[in-house]
Amino acid sequence: MGFFRGSIMLLCGVALLNTGGSGAQQTKNNVPRLKLSYKDMLESNNLVTFEGLPNSSAYHTFLLDEEKGRLVVGAKDHIFSFNLLNISKEFAQIPWPASSTRRDECKWAGKDLSRECSNFVKVLQPFNQTHVYVCGTGAFHPVCSYLDVGKKSEDSVFRLEPHVENGRGKSPYDPKLLTASMLIDGELYAGTSADFMGRDFAIFRTLGKHHPIRTEQHDSRWLNDPRFLGIHLISESDNPEDDKIYLFFRENAIDGEHTGKATHARVGQLCKNDLGGHRSLVNKWTTFLKARLICSVPGNNGIDTHFDELQDVFLMSTKDPKSPVVYAVFTTSSNIFKGSAVCMYSMTDIRRVFLGPYAHRDGPSYQWVPFQGRVPYPRPGTCPSKTFGGFDTTKDLPDEVVQFARSHPAMFNPVYPINNRPIIVKTDVDYQFTQIVVDKVEAEDGLYDVMFIGTDAGTILKVVSIPRGSWHDLEEVLLEEMTVFREPAAITAMELSTKQQQLYLGSDIGVSQMPLHRCEVYGKACAECCLARDPYCAWDGTECSRYFPMAKRRTRRQDIRNGDPLTQCSDLQHHDELSGQSTLQDKTVYGVENSSTFLECSPKSQRATTYWQYQSTTDDHKQEIKSEERFIHTEQGLLIRALNKKDSGIYLCQAVEHGFMQTVLKVNLEVIDTERLEDLLHRDEEAASAPAHEYSSSRETPNQRLWYRDFLSLVNHPTLNSVDEFCEQVWKRERKHKRQKSHLVQKVQLHQQQQQKTATSPRNHMHAQGLAAKWKHLQERQKGRNRRTHELERAPRSV
Ligand SMILES: *[C@@H]1O[C@H](CO)[C@@H](O)[C@H](O)[C@H]1NC(C)=O
Ligand SMILES: *[C@@H]1O[C@H](CO)[C@@H](O)[C@H](O)[C@H]1NC(C)=O
Ligand SMILES: *[C@@H]1O[C@H](CO)[C@@H](O)[C@H](O)[C@H]1NC(C)=O
Ligand SMILES: *[C@@H]1O[C@H](CO)[C@@H](O)[C@H](O)[C@H]1NC(C)=O
Repeated sequence: MGFFRGSIMLLCGVALLNTGGSGAQQTKNNVPRLKLSYKDMLESNNLVTFEGLPNSSAYHTFLLDEEKGRLVVGAKDHIFSFNLLNISKEFAQIPWPASSTRRDECKWAGKDLSRECSNFVKVLQPFNQTHVYVCGTGAFHPVCSYLDVGKKSEDSVFRLEPHVENGRGKSPYDPKLLTASMLIDGELYAGTSADFMGRDFAIFRTLGKHHPIRTEQHDSRWLNDPRFLGIHLISESDNPEDDKIYLFFRENAIDGEHTGKATHARVGQLCKNDLGGHRSLVNKWTTFLKARLICSVPGNNGIDTHFDELQDVFLMSTKDPKSPVVYAVFTTSSNIFKGSAVCMYSMTDIRRVFLGPYAHRDGPSYQWVPFQGRVPYPRPGTCPSKTFGGFDTTKDLPDEVVQFARSHPAMFNPVYPINNRPIIVKTDVDYQFTQIVVDKVEAEDGLYDVMFIGTDAGTILKVVSIPRGSWHDLEEVLLEEMTVFREPAAITAMELSTKQQQLYLGSDIGVSQMPLHRCEVYGKACAECCLARDPYCAWDGTECSRYFPMAKRRTRRQDIRNGDPLTQCSDLQHHDELSGQSTLQDKTVYGVENSSTFLECSPKSQRATTYWQYQSTTDDHKQEIKSEERFIHTEQGLLIRALNKKDSGIYLCQAVEHGFMQTVLKVNLEVIDTERLEDLLHRDEEAASAPAHEYSSSRETPNQRLWYRDFLSLVNHPTLNSVDEFCEQVWKRERKHKRQKSHLVQKVQLHQQQQQKTATSPRNHMHAQGLAAKWKHLQERQKGRNRRTHELERAPRSV
């Protein structure tokens, strides 16, 4: 059957856009290597979804319990319990609506009955071995209760206690507002709003044996319309008396600091053993301090672009539990400029700022300056402990310390990110970051932090930071972009289970679950697996699969740092394996003389650039096809205009990524000349008037017959004319663009006049030199990589 096996391809009409660029010369560092749509995710078994209840929404509050294998989710009027193995397999739900009396009151107070007068669950905190503390907005009347989840997962207990407590200072009234909460030693710490109007924001400590305590009320120096995003306990020394609570929030910049309204990202600190002052600041924090978090990039006019709208914070633990790394997601406040960034902060830097000068001003119309006077002892912000203070409780603090603390809650110096700049910036996209979780992954060549970033478009970005030479020079590799909700709903909750190797995602419309890795998607060849640079994956000798550092086997191939398949896979020495032949597509395409055709080739990796080679059917020699009048390279493939009989032959689509080339498509192009076309069309008429079995007469071989059938389907294709018209338009646009750029359009005759031209002819030699130069250029682009090179192996095999 020969090449007739291939299927007919006529693709010019399908989604051919973006005809810019000559392929291989572009850098594609900002595009995700792999982009998976919602459909892709479902079909490849990489997504499990809970589509929500018709009478619920706002699946925003998550509590991950890896021990019991459960994910508890708080939503509108409901609490859910999902099985971590598969959230759609079995789940329990508890309706927890507000009473009709509360709903009526809420409505009479002028609130929207359907959107606001429900019980939106905002707090889910483990209380003791069997119970979870749960709070909701209760139709603008916050309530809390206890959720019985049993001692062991086998108990499968999931029950809400009938006892209900006042939720003020724990959950906000308004469902639009957030609460950052944490329950430790029976005490609930919560940053929230504590009134119906949503004006009284504070950091509270409630429950437990102590009197409730909070931040100073109605003092914009302490908190100025804040939005709380995260709260964490971090110890300062081995003495638990020094334990501190850190809060992450954004708030309005204090008046006078800026003209107009500006937002600042903040980190705040408190001592866990703070009991408030004795004479002043009674039942108020005496150890509260806050500092600004900076995340900015230098602008071209000397003015930095600030990312101030803190959205989410994730603490990545390190060997030292006192020094987790703070990952923070920001967006811009600007209406004009839409952008997102991720910055990393060290606890050392944060602590240094809290030990630095306090911000001070003499009055509302004065500038903020570093406080120069005498700071009272013990220094405000220090916890009462044997380590530093020599005093037992904050109630023993001297009055002048409490007075100073009251009037100086802010630090003068801001906290700058590690390396003084964001690790990720995204400005050229129509989405913004909302959430982040980070996983530490052990790979063959080291430990990597893999970030999962949620967006407001219902997508997840998987990013790994790879050191270029040192840890001060990180390269961000965007591995995957995945759509995880059926509609572009913002990701509002995210939990990562290392035990299950799964990620759980919440939004307004439901809950989704996806594995942290899908190594098989990268391809079957060693080179493809290696190029992916996914620390979770390695080539195990037969396929791309999950890498386990424990099971050290010689056959495991992985190179995250360089993504170099040549050092990793070349000794395998099956040429096919190395060049990714296992995924090579082989197709036959028919074209009609003087009309246009389109050879579609889009490599799986969006990072790869493509270039095309031509090989005539009569000899093995391959040559590169340059973009010119008749041949146009597009992102999706090669467009050939005004087909010539001599264009018949083999077209190879080569994908180049990270200096590594692989053939991804082989197309056999068969150009039908006009005489033959007429002959066929004529026969087509005959065939139409004759019984079907007769039109393949004995004059034809079986091959010809098959060819004829395929050809008829091409000719009868309803869009044949429009394809040509479309190709014509693209060609004109391209030509115009080219003329503007250069008048020197180099003509390359693809097919030589004499079929017998050998590889040693001067013309081909020149062409080979051109390829070599291009190859060299590609290699040089891989700057600063310290590794052995394989010059010979790297050169295109065809030259
Ligand atoms: C999860 O459970 C659903 C329902 O039982 C099933 O259809 C689906 O295949 C499961 N998915 C996985 C990844 O186990
Ligand atoms: C919502 O609908 C489910 C059934 O789909 C029902 O079990 C539940 O009680 C309803 N919740 C409320 C708050 O009415
Ligand atoms: C946990 O707290 C709940 C609510 O106070 C209580 O009913 C339950 O007995 C406690 N469980 C244990 C194991 O202490
Ligand atoms: C194809 O185009 C060439 C050049 O424009 C022309 O000479 C030739 O007659 C055309 N053939 C047909 C069958 O239209």
